[in-house]
Formats: sequence, C-alpha cells, structure tokens
Amino acid sequence: MGSCKFSMFSLLCLIIISLLVSGEEISPQLVKERISLLSFRSGIVLDPEGALESWNSSGIHLCNWTGVKCNNASDRVIQLDLSGKSLRGRISPALANLSSLLVLDLSRNFIEGHVPAELGYLFQLRQLSLSCNRLGGDIPKELGFLHRLVYLDLGSNKLAGDIPALLFGNGSSSLEYIDLSNNSLTGKIPLKNDCELGALRFLLLWSNRLVGGVPPALSNSTNLEWLDLESNMLSGELPSEIVRKMPKLQFLYLSYNDFVSQDGNTNLEPFFASLVNSSNLEELELAGNNLYGEIPPIIGDLSTNFVQIHLDENLLYGAIPLTFQTLSI
Ligand SMILES: *[C@@H]1O[C@H](CO)[C@@H](O)[C@H](O)[C@H]1NC(C)=O
Ligand SMILES: *[C@@H]1O[C@H](CO)[C@@H](O)[C@H](O)[C@H]1NC(C)=O
Ligand SMILES: *[C@@H]1O[C@H](CO)[C@@H](O)[C@H](O)[C@H]1NC(C)=O
Ligand SMILES: *[C@@H]1O[C@H](CO)[C@@H](O)[C@H](O)[C@H]1NC(C)=O
Ligand SMILES: *[C@@H]1O[C@H](CO)[C@@H](O)[C@H](O)[C@H]1NC(C)=O
Ligand SMILES: *[C@@H]1O[C@H](CO)[C@@H](O)[C@H](O)[C@H]1NC(C)=O
Ligand SMILES: *[C@@H]1O[C@H](CO)[C@@H](O)[C@H](O)[C@H]1NC(C)=O
Ligand SMILES: *[C@@H]1O[C@H](CO)[C@@H](O)[C@H](O)[C@H]1NC(C)=O
Repeated sequence: MGSCKFSMFSLLCLIIISLLVSGEEISPQLVKERISLLSFRSGIVLDPEGALESWNSSGIHLCNWTGVKCNNASDRVIQLDLSGKSLRGRISPALANLSSLLVLDLSRNFIEGHVPAELGYLFQLRQLSLSCNRLGGDIPKELGFLHRLVYLDLGSNKLAGDIPALLFGNGSSSLEYIDLSNNSLTGKIPLKNDCELGALRFLLLWSNRLVGGVPPALSNSTNLEWLDLESNMLSGELPSEIVRKMPKLQFLYLSYNDFVSQDGNTNLEPFFASLVNSSNLEELELAGNNLYGEIPPIIGDLSTNFVQIHLDENLLYGAIPLTFQTLSI
C-alpha cells in the first residue's frame, strides 16, 4: 500500500483494508462458525506447539486457521483436524454449532473431561476421532444420532460404563470403522438382532471389561476384515456361525477371554472349519481362553493361507500339522 502517503489517506486505507479482510467473513454463518471455533479454543488450556497461534483475528481468514478446512464457498467449516498437537484442555460443546462438519479429529492430544453429548448433533459428521486422549466418563448415547458416521475412533482413553446400544446403529448403519479399544467399558457388546452393521470392516474392542457372548447379529457384518475382541471377559462358544459369514476376515483376535469350544468344550473342529473359506486370514489368536480338547486336523486346511495361529495358554493337545511354521500352543 505504498500509495497511501498521507495520514488522511492512511486512515482511509486502513478502513478499506479491514473491510477487505473482514469482507470475506461477512457472512453471518461464518461469524457463527468463528464463535464456535473460538469457544473451542478457550477450552484449550495448553498449546505447547503453538498450533492455535493462527487462530486470532489479525487478518488470517478462519478457513486458513491451522487444522481448519472450509467448503469451496469458504462459508462453512467442514473439517477440524488438530491431531497430535499436544493440546491440553477440554472439548467445548460449542463445536456442535459447526453444523457442516464432516471430520472432527482431535486424536493424540491430552484432552480431558467428557465427550460432549452435543457432538451427537453434528449430523453431517463422517469421521469422529478422539483416540489417545484422557477422556473419561460414559460414551454419550447421542453419538448414536450420527447416522452418516463412517469412522468412529474413541480408543485409548479412560471411557467407562456400558457401550450405548444406539451407538451401533438403529436399524442399519454406515459405520465402517469402530474402535473403542483400550478403555474401561463394561457390559455386553450391544448389538441387537434387528441391527445391522452391514458396512463394518473394522471392529476393535480390545482391552475393556466386556462380558457376554459375541452377538449373533454380528454375522450381518459380512464385510468384516478385522475383528479384535482380545483382553475382555467375553464368554460362550467360539463364534463359529458368525465368522463363517465373514469371508474377508484378515485378523481375528479372540485371545484372553473365557471362550470355550463346541460340544461342551471338547470340539474345536467346527470353529476352524468355519474359517476355511476366509482365504485372506493372516492371523488368528485364541491364546489365554478356556479351550480344552484335541487340535483338529482341519487346522491344516488353514495353513495354505500362511496364517499365524496362537493357541497358547489353553488346555489343548494333539499333533500340530507339519505344514505349520507359525502355530504356537
Ligand atoms: C496471531 O497470529 C500470527 C500468525 O500466526 C502470530 O504471529 C501472532 O503472534 C498471533 N497473535 C496473537 C495475539 O496470538
Ligand atoms: C488462505 O491462504 C491462501 C494462501 O496464503 C490464500 O491464497 C487464500 O486466499 C486464503 N484463503 C482465504 C479464504 O482467505
Ligand atoms: C471443490 O473444489 C475442488 C477443486 O477446485 C473440486 O475438485 C471439487 O469438486 C469442489 N467441490 C465441490 C463440492 O464443489
Ligand atoms: C450455538 O449457537 C447458538 C446461537 O447461535 C447458541 O445459543 C448456542 O448456545 C450454541 N450452542 C452451543 C452448544 O454452544
Ligand atoms: C492404552 O491406553 C493407555 C492410556 O490410557 C496408553 O498409555 C497405552 O499406550 C495404550 N495402549 C496401547 C497398546 O495403545
Ligand atoms: C430409531 O429408528 C426408528 C425407526 O426407524 C425411529 O422411529 C426412531 O426415532 C429411531 N431412534 C433414534 C434414537 O434415532
Ligand atoms: C442380523 O442377524 C440376526 C441374527 O443372526 C438376524 O436375526 C437378522 O435377521 C439379521 N438382520 C438382517 C437385516 O440380515
Ligand atoms: C466354503 O465354500 C464351499 C464352496 O463354495 C462351500 O461348499 C462350503 O460350504 C463353504 N464352507 C463354509 C464353512 O462356509
């Protein structure tokens, strides 16, 4: 602005500049989005990497703030990704006013407090990632209102209480990825018979305090690739009929639970037989259960897949097929 030579004009220039700068943000919607983001920022008490330094009013357009992404018209925030920024603080419920948000990723920070129930009103949300923080309390049932959610990751927090049934869908669901692992969740896996997680590819519930059996309705998840229920207190027979419906399974982790085999814990054959068509299977972990009985010869039919099988810490006996290099009992 070298043309502004006189102070009289300088003032004029200043007004014009500020009009130009704020002119882009004049839409009332964006003003609302700004208030929500600033409320979020006020909940952050420590920002050692200065991730939120650009979040001030000194001329940087809100759509260019670190972690913020807007739609093409630059009038709505569609993404807030502040993962791995060492942020400390709490999640402001005001985020719920970012009504066009598609992605909310605050994973790998030091965020405490609760997951605000208000997040359940971000109806457009496709991805919610809050993993690896210090979030406590219950999982709000309102997250079950997020009918367009594809990716849900609340793993490695301090969440407690039962998993709200609504979370796993009300009827059908678009969820492809569910990770609630490494928390202190209790109760059963709440999947009712009239529910269908038909799009599900990943279900990670390891290291919680879940009880009961593997719900039969999981057999509707025929696209499942990765099922990890390790280190819970799940019981009942190994879920043969369920995994039989999952030809795309690659990783099946059922170790450190209280599973038994068929026919009063004497017959492992039905379970291994149910996996012979899962030609992508890479790893099968059954260690640390209450499995009793003879290792069935059919286990050899899985070996062509170069599958790794862990059966240790059970009460099994019998010959290991020679084809196996990676079977441990
Ligand atoms: C505002 O943001 C700019 C650019 O990141 C930074 O240089 C400045 O220190 C910030 N001001 C405040 C008050 O945080
Ligand atoms: C964001 O910054 C880029 C590069 O500095 C600029 O071209 C763009 O116009 C800015 N976007 C908005 C909405 O101000
Ligand atoms: C937004 O802009 C990008 C690049 O200009 C374009 O590829 C994309 O289709 C646009 N999206 C919408 C929803 O208009
Ligand atoms: C959302 O914005 C409205 C005003 O537009 C306000 O009354 C409400 O408290 C805000 N919601 C949250 C959760 O901050
Ligand atoms: C489980 O969560 C704790 C924090 O609650 C974390 O320290 C630990 O690394 C996590 N474990 C794994 C295997 O990610
Ligand atoms: C669950 O689905 C039923 C039938 O589609 C609907 O009436 C009900 O409002 C839904 N409940 C919630 C909490 O979304
Ligand atoms: C889901 O599985 C349950 C239990 O196997 C079954 O009763 C129900 O009909 C299935 N739902 C659909 C839509 O296939
Ligand atoms: C495996 O596939 C074959 C051929 O399609 C079929 O006859 C058999 O019933 C399948 N086995 C299981 C356990 O689903």
